Amino acid sequence: MMKGLGMGKDRKGRVAGKVAVVTGAASGLGEAIAVLLAQEGAAVMVCDIDADGGKRVVSDIGAAGGEAAFHSLDVTDEAAWDAAMAAVVDRFGGLDVLVNNAGIAPVGDMDMPFELWRKVMSVNLDGAFLGTRAAIRTMSAGSRKGSIVNMSSTMGYVAEPTTAAYSASKGGVRLLTKAAAMHCSAKQLPIRVNSVHPGMCLTPMVKSYLEHYPEERARQIASHPIGHLGDPRDVAYGVLYLASDESAFSTGTELQIDGGYLAK
Ligand SMILES: NC(=O)c1ccc[n+]([C@@H]2O[C@H](COP(=O)([O-])OP(=O)(O)OC[C@H]3O[C@@H](n4cnc5c(N)ncnc54)[C@H](O)[C@@H]3O)[C@@H](O)[C@H]2O)c1
Repeated sequence: MMKGLGMGKDRKGRVAGKVAVVTGAASGLGEAIAVLLAQEGAAVMVCDIDADGGKRVVSDIGAAGGEAAFHSLDVTDEAAWDAAMAAVVDRFGGLDVLVNNAGIAPVGDMDMPFELWRKVMSVNLDGAFLGTRAAIRTMSAGSRKGSIVNMSSTMGYVAEPTTAAYSASKGGVRLLTKAAAMHCSAKQLPIRVNSVHPGMCLTPMVKSYLEHYPEERARQIASHPIGHLGDPRDVAYGVLYLASDESAFSTGTELQIDGGYLAK
């Protein structure tokens, strides 16, 4: 399915010559982001806890003429971030772009077990913090301009009864992003940090949710004024813009790609 997408060893494209790390890149939005960044000329380190899925994505990118490698990374593991940064520098010579995309969205209302709350916070918010900190350190050490893109959600602004931990974590990602952008500006580091806020997109995470709650499909479509759910590539194109130098004047900002969900 990747053949003919225009990847090439000549590395032309909107992020040509850049090195990108994408977390949660074995599936869904992360996969679409990794594929599009590679298609647009970046060398991509595909990071995930799912080694089989991650290696499949690397193989797809390679088959289409792009450059990618897999690195096993649990975003909640502080030491593993150091290893991932060392691996990307070793393999590709530095780091220009980090997409903190890995995330989980288990259903849970205010009566959820504390353990579930902690798990969601750990992956979605601790993971984004550890990744952002690690990337700022690595980009600064390499004296390179950088772009960090943090995956939040429409649920970073609003909540449903069943998104207590998820909304809290994604709201946290939204403001962590601004704090990191302010940090980089105060330190005069040429690193931009922005967040992306997708509406509901048809990824494995969402497909499995809609299979468990089939009555939700019509309600979700109705809550997106554009009249349908998103495709992972809709989000990937927004990340591509923030990753590229086209967004050189954007930092600490929020890109909503949500079919009008938040405009209501
Ligand atoms: N799909 C949507 O509608 C939607 C909407 C808004 C925001 N998001 C956000 O986009 C991101 C991707 O979602 P998706 O729908 O593609 O999900 P997905 O379940 O299809 O993919 C998530 C990936 O993250 C990986 N992952 C999970 N825990 C990890 C960990 N601890 N360390 C490293 N990797 C880990 C999984 O193995 C998987 O490959 C998430 O942050 C999610 O909250 C998704």
